Amino acid sequence: MAHLAHWIRLATDSGPVYVDHEKPDWFVPSQEADEILQLLAASRDTDEAAVRLAASRSLPLGRALLTTERLRAQVSAEPAPAYMGRASHLRLTGLKECWFHLTNRCNLACGHCLFGASENSQETLPFDLLRQGLRQARQLGCTLFCFTGGEPFLYPDFLGVLADLLADPTVHAVVLTNGLLLDAHLEALQALPQGRLHLQVSLDGLEQNHEQLRGSGSFGRLMANLDTLRTAGLAVTLSVAINRANLVDLPALVDLAAAKGIHNLHLLWHFLRGKGTAAQFVSPAEILPVLIAAQERAERIKVTIDNVEAMKGQVFSTRAPVTTSLARPGNRWPWVRMAPSFPRRPWSLSRSCVVAISATAWNRSGEPVRCLRPFARPPWRTARSLRSSL
Ligand SMILES: C[S@@+](CC[C@H](N)C(=O)[O-])C[C@H]1O[C@@H](n2cnc3c(N)ncnc32)[C@H](O)[C@@H]1O
Ligand code: SF4
Repeated sequence: MAHLAHWIRLATDSGPVYVDHEKPDWFVPSQEADEILQLLAASRDTDEAAVRLAASRSLPLGRALLTTERLRAQVSAEPAPAYMGRASHLRLTGLKECWFHLTNRCNLACGHCLFGASENSQETLPFDLLRQGLRQARQLGCTLFCFTGGEPFLYPDFLGVLADLLADPTVHAVVLTNGLLLDAHLEALQALPQGRLHLQVSLDGLEQNHEQLRGSGSFGRLMANLDTLRTAGLAVTLSVAINRANLVDLPALVDLAAAKGIHNLHLLWHFLRGKGTAAQFVSPAEILPVLIAAQERAERIKVTIDNVEAMKGQVFSTRAPVTTSLARPGNRWPWVRMAPSFPRRPWSLSRSCVVAISATAWNRSGEPVRCLRPFARPPWRTARSLRSSL
């Protein structure tokens, strides 16, 4: 059928993948959806495909018609607009988010720190330069400012910088911090507008693993500060830099967050930079099963792992209706999933989120399987929308 012609069916070791010939879009159908799509491709129209489906599956014709038509509607797409080149997408109209790496000075000297920060470091952003950067960013319309280091709370008059910035009611400030100096600044922090100050505190495992990286006593001090912040009514989120040692702690960190009244976890993927070593690195394939366990626990106790939420939007970026409405368990419609099969909850995007990490799909044992890689010649290279712009 003409309107399905933009989907190319590619067979892979782990099942078929449908790739949009006109734009970089793809999905993996269930066996039933694949059968119907092939019937549709080989038929003159939906009615003919439905008649064939009814015959092959011994279905009432009415149901076959409904199933076939619904699937056809889901995978039909507006023609892709002509590609105008990158320049048309790169026109800047303003600045949304601005990061400042304030200093490499730090009250810790963590064993994985990508900046090799320590209390001996002299590298600090000159205050004039910071002020200039803040002013220019504001002039460009920026309302989201993020601060990292080193330890931002060691930067001279950092609380003053935050207070100036947050005096504008449109501005939000995010601070990445090891959390150990927060009690010393409690009063000043309480005076800032809470809804627009976002403290992201690092927690790199349960006590043993956290202290292995961050030093003896750092875990207990952090826990005490988290309690102090909670009592003072200051909300924080936690960030966990995943590594070989602390991966196993991840589900328990979800519990720990909940126990401390913290509702959000942010995961950082290990960088081989500074003190970050290859031995600390852990592959996405190994992270996946643990991430799934952590996500399942998080869902149960109302903690959000924000990476997973962000990834949900990335996996089937332009075809969300296909993944949601067709994929629910118990739904009679053919569901669409990421390859390969995850039969228990095929629609759970947490199982396919590693695509966003490495553009590879994974099997049930967490081993990488070929995903888009077999397509040495991307199908959309000859797309009409691309040709028309050249
Ligand atoms: C560089 S620190 C700066 C802010 C603050 N000192 C802190 O520890 O949160 C920001 C985050 O980067 C993480 N990090 C440090 N080294 C890393 C590495 N090699 N790979 C990935 N994340 C790393 C830390 O665990 C922390 O969560
Ligand atoms: S990770 Fe953060 S706390 Fe640790 S040394 Fe680096 S900058 Fe300091």
